Amino acid sequence: MKTVMWENNKVVMIDQNKLPNELEYVTMSSVHDVANGIKEMKVRGAPAIGVTAALGLALAAYNSKATARHEFIKDLEKAAEIITGTRPTAVNLFWAAEIILTEANSVKGTLEEAREAIIKKALNMVEEDVQINRKIGEFGANLIEDGDTIGTVCNAGWLATAGEYGTALSPIKVAHEQGKKVNVIAMETRPKLQGARLTAFELMNDGIPVKVIVDGALGHCMSKGMVDKFICGADRIIVKSGGHVANKIGTYMASVLADKHKIPFYVAAPSSTFDFDKDLSELIIEERSKSEVGVINGKWIIPKGANVFNPAFDVTPPNLVKAFITEEGVISPPFREQLKILRC
Ligand code: MRU
Repeated sequence: MKTVMWENNKVVMIDQNKLPNELEYVTMSSVHDVANGIKEMKVRGAPAIGVTAALGLALAAYNSKATARHEFIKDLEKAAEIITGTRPTAVNLFWAAEIILTEANSVKGTLEEAREAIIKKALNMVEEDVQINRKIGEFGANLIEDGDTIGTVCNAGWLATAGEYGTALSPIKVAHEQGKKVNVIAMETRPKLQGARLTAFELMNDGIPVKVIVDGALGHCMSKGMVDKFICGADRIIVKSGGHVANKIGTYMASVLADKHKIPFYVAAPSSTFDFDKDLSELIIEERSKSEVGVINGKWIIPKGANVFNPAFDVTPPNLVKAFITEEGVISPPFREQLKILRC
């Protein structure tokens, strides 16, 4: 299945806030609609918001009323600003905007041809994402043994990408296809519950046994020998600092626990998630609303006046990562040297 699509010159996406109870598709007719969809997390997950950003810019190209090339480029630059202003942590948004703007600036021909080229480029990015994630799955499946139980956080499955496999769940799905018996322990992932709602939904549909745990139960499960390996996705991997991983809040805690219990901790991500430009000090961790934490079942459950802090991501240092699983292969330490192969 696809997370986001281009249909009749509009962007159509699954509203992931409604899953698993309702599978509802929403249609976006402007770049503002697409940006709101990303901000409100109708679509979420780093690779998914990257390809959605590309389709959002294709929509901006389609809707542009420009009659000259410089006006057209200005429209696209404005659209890129709107899209990249939605969520600051995942590098994929910025990566996608850069690719589309480069295409817009380099393509030859009429405005109509430029529009078509941009739409084609965005659609290719969607297709490529699926192929890349399949490769991540093939490399990662070699690390999974028959009978393994894999821990994971958030949702890094097909819903977090363009479709089909995902990143962290891809090795699990490929291992399952190969006939290995694999079980999953999914952290529920407060406050948005992507693990409980989305990872469990995906794995159940694939016939892969999954147990959902509250985030605080991870240490208990690891200490009892219930987790053989841990695989998560990433929103941004800072190459300059040697591979710090920004990922869903709770990932750092999982990596420390994995280290304590000698459980291999893997990060599965496409090369588009590796940031070769920014340093760790420039990383922005998104903070989301208080109500995501404070409201349960439609009711505010925290005493009035109490403060809430809701960081959406945290940072895992590279010394806690056993290896990165990418479409180019499994990358082991020393990361500073080894990650260079992703640049070309
Ligand atoms: O806030 P979200 O749901 O967009 O966060 C998603 C994650 O943290 C994922 O682990 C990450 O984007 C990798 S998805 C393949």
